[in-house]
Amino acid sequence: MTDQISNIFAEDATCEKMGESKSSLISLKETSQKPWPPAGVKWYYSDDYTAIAHGDCRDILPTLEPVDLVLTDPPYNVGMAFGDKTDDSRSDYEQWCEGWFSMLNTTASLITPGIANLAMWMKHSPRWILAWSKANSMKRVTVGFNCWEPILLFGKPPCNSYRDLFMAPTVAQKEAVGHPTPKPLLLFKQLIVGFSNGGDTVLDIFLGSGTTTLAAKQLGRKAIGIEIEEKYCEIAVKRLAQGVLSFKS
Ligand SMILES: C[S@@+](CC[C@H](N)C(=O)[O-])C[C@H]1O[C@@H](n2cnc3c(N)ncnc32)[C@H](O)[C@@H]1O
Repeated sequence: MTDQISNIFAEDATCEKMGESKSSLISLKETSQKPWPPAGVKWYYSDDYTAIAHGDCRDILPTLEPVDLVLTDPPYNVGMAFGDKTDDSRSDYEQWCEGWFSMLNTTASLITPGIANLAMWMKHSPRWILAWSKANSMKRVTVGFNCWEPILLFGKPPCNSYRDLFMAPTVAQKEAVGHPTPKPLLLFKQLIVGFSNGGDTVLDIFLGSGTTTLAAKQLGRKAIGIEIEEKYCEIAVKRLAQGVLSFKS
């Protein structure tokens, strides 16, 4: 474990600058008393750090115990073709979001709402709005290139972050090919370090290609992921195997 931790910090100095101490990344088995993976769910995949369920988050959420942090990136309702089971052009988008949001059983949540949906989310009174700076973005919007995205913070997590701006370029993530919208691993690692502690459990109810589960595992956190499209569950599992291989080498 010690070698693995050294490698994470060598490869990702940003997390260290944010205040993560190497000593906080202690073995899960030393800290966790709860059964893992959690009981009551049919898991698509599990290991010592990760549990992934294939299904609709609204069906699975009521069966889960409370978690320390939800980090999730819901569909933005912009007509993205995620797969047969996902409708990304909903006329009831606001009610749909309220449905899963009201089911979250967590100390804190970080949600990437998409700029166009920001007004809709303000009625839920986020505690703060963080910014993801993606300075290399080439997507043109009303005001030139769209170089930032909001991240909504709800609840009261531990705060290991010294600022509310998170820098991570949008990079083509080779290992996530096959998913249309993978978030940068660096961004999710910064958010997990910033708003959770070693040994905490992180939940992503819209797992996609598994960025959250990979980031959490590399940072010594347990993570639960839920994804409705089986092809993305497969990618998430494959990335976990690659992530472990690459940080051992
Ligand atoms: C914006 S993507 C998440 C991308 C992810 N952050 C990543 O880095 O790959 C949203 C994901 O939610 C999934 N999804 C849509 N509706 C869902 C539901 N009801 N339950 C679980 N997953 C769902 C989609 O299949 C899609 O992969």
